[in-house]
Amino acid sequence: MSGLVKYAMVASEPFLVAYGLDLFNNALIIDIGAGTLDLCRMHGTIPAEEDQRTLVKAGNYIDSRFHMLLQEKVQDSPITLEMARRIKEKYAFVSSNKEVISVDFQVNGKPKTYDVTNELREACESVLADMIQSARDLIVGFDPEFQSVLRQNIVLAGGGSQIRGLAEEVRSNLTEFGTCRVSTVEDPVYAGAVGALNLATDMPESEWRRHATSRS
Ligand SMILES: Nc1ncnc2c1ncn2[C@@H]1O[C@H](COP(=O)(O)OP(=O)(O)OP(=O)(O)O)[C@@H](O)[C@H]1O
Ligand SMILES: [Mg+2]
Repeated sequence: MSGLVKYAMVASEPFLVAYGLDLFNNALIIDIGAGTLDLCRMHGTIPAEEDQRTLVKAGNYIDSRFHMLLQEKVQDSPITLEMARRIKEKYAFVSSNKEVISVDFQVNGKPKTYDVTNELREACESVLADMIQSARDLIVGFDPEFQSVLRQNIVLAGGGSQIRGLAEEVRSNLTEFGTCRVSTVEDPVYAGAVGALNLATDMPESEWRRHATSRS
């Protein structure tokens, strides 16, 4: 960015999501991106290493898993990874609700309908276990006095947070500790960028000088 900007700073995406939502304290942000799924616990100051987790099972992992399962199921039509991703982005869901996901594939020039419900559910759920475990670790490792407040402020962000049923699934998996409230940001794709812009404009020049890499 040299020559374009005066200072640059690297910040984690869930931290920026939290910043953009004014969730500076007692909040747990889970950002589900393509390459990584990042969790960050907010407790009033800049999050430290122990407040964050990065998992590599995220959107791309779901895509490749779903792609593999689809290829096994739809053997009479070639399936690309891109097709698998498109179907995921349209229908992604977790949980055991009774809906059926049917998709047409071209077989010998004619559409043939396949029920891909179980394949899509299995692929989407493949990121859940690690994500729940990391969320548990961050809750259990938090100051005991504020754990119940933290549990009321669990926020999902990133493109992957659009998986239907996800907030409820996360909530029900964390209730062993007591009640939880899990919400999804209104603008999953840009919530991080909004926070970055807020942070950049809020920081006085002196802070930029202290925290950031300067080109001079
Ligand atoms: N409706 C949807 N349901 C499920 N997943 C979706 C949906 N729409 C987009 N995605 C997935 O969200 C991911 C992209 O999200 P996002 O833009 O937050 O990622 P990114 O910030 O580019 O990635 P990273 O954080 O890993 O750098 C992709 O895996 C995409 O397939
Ligand atoms: Mg991201």
